[in-house]
Amino acid sequence: MGTAVAEKECNPILFERHFQTSLPEVYQTLPEEEIDSRIGEAKRSLGSSLVILGHHYQRDEVIKFADYTGDSLKLSQLAASRKETPFIVFCGVHFMAESADILTGPHQKVILPDLNAGCSMADMAAIDQVEECWYLLLENLTTPPIPITYMNSEAALKAFCGKNGGLVCTSSNATKTFEWAFKEGEKILFFPDEHLGRNTAFKMGFQEDDLAVWNPHRELGGTTPERLQRARIILWKGCCSVHMQFTPKQVLEVRERHPEIQVIVHPECRHEVVELADEDGSTEYIVRRVKESPPGSQWVIGTEPHLVNRLAHECSDKLVLILNPSICLCATMYRIDPPHLLWILENLLKDKVMNQITVPEETASWARTALDRMLTIS
Ligand code: 13P
Ligand code: SF4
Repeated sequence: MGTAVAEKECNPILFERHFQTSLPEVYQTLPEEEIDSRIGEAKRSLGSSLVILGHHYQRDEVIKFADYTGDSLKLSQLAASRKETPFIVFCGVHFMAESADILTGPHQKVILPDLNAGCSMADMAAIDQVEECWYLLLENLTTPPIPITYMNSEAALKAFCGKNGGLVCTSSNATKTFEWAFKEGEKILFFPDEHLGRNTAFKMGFQEDDLAVWNPHRELGGTTPERLQRARIILWKGCCSVHMQFTPKQVLEVRERHPEIQVIVHPECRHEVVELADEDGSTEYIVRRVKESPPGSQWVIGTEPHLVNRLAHECSDKLVLILNPSICLCATMYRIDPPHLLWILENLLKDKVMNQITVPEETASWARTALDRMLTIS
């Protein structure tokens, strides 16, 4: 059993703010085996001064070099706990490396192997748009909402939440953070993922009528003062281009073909998909759930194909399918490749730190407040 899916790269990168100068030519032409053995050598030489963190969506050629793998919550907890490690190489995307920098000390350096590894969802909420939304909400509401930002956002948005009594959440702890927020205030403003927000709200028993959607490209968010006043949760109109490729029809069709199959999806999928699934959870939850299931179990998974293909390969005693076999991979996660990793490590050996991610202290201190609130309740 076990299965694999074809991969293709086609999801759009909406705005890219981080630019990677091209990789020195010598790294572009090296044979794969040489890259692998030089990465291994560099890791050995750097020893305990280095830790490599790898998100579950990383390609196999990269993840095999990670000292730890995980979802956004686990990797941020790991970064925060590695107080003695001077170099943290983050094989993931920009917002994850930023969070690691915020949670580590001034003697530590967080490195992203390719600066073009952003996140199209994080780019859907810019700080000036959030501030404009906030200003309009204060004009139209009697009390300010509690702002919550998904981890998939730039540091300035995390700082905004820290400064305004809010916090950060990940796909692992969204419900806990919403519960925390409702002890602090009457309403939540959640950005940038409309779908994680709606899925969390519905799990807590809210109905569509309790929600309002804020479209940053429309006047007053494309909504009305009455709707905003009535809403308990205001959702930013943002989404993940990868998870939007899963549909309810795919769930119904796979159930018809495999009546015994269990459907597990990431909560960035639209609500109609999550509603039809048996379970939803973070990438770490999905990996654990499938690995810990008994031999012969059948799973169809709604998340990024690298994670699903790896699970299919590692769990050959189970049937593991992807919900959409022609899905596009996460193009920004895919930017991290072995040549960039080798370039980073060999520069570290020469005491050169390339691609360090640094969040200015003024932003970092408020963002830390928002991240610490999350870590305390996680
Ligand atoms: P996790 O925190 O579940 O790993 O999700 C991160 C992400 O970007 C999913 O698209
Ligand atoms: Fe961003 Fe979606 Fe890629 Fe996750 S899968 S990093 S949310 S674009």
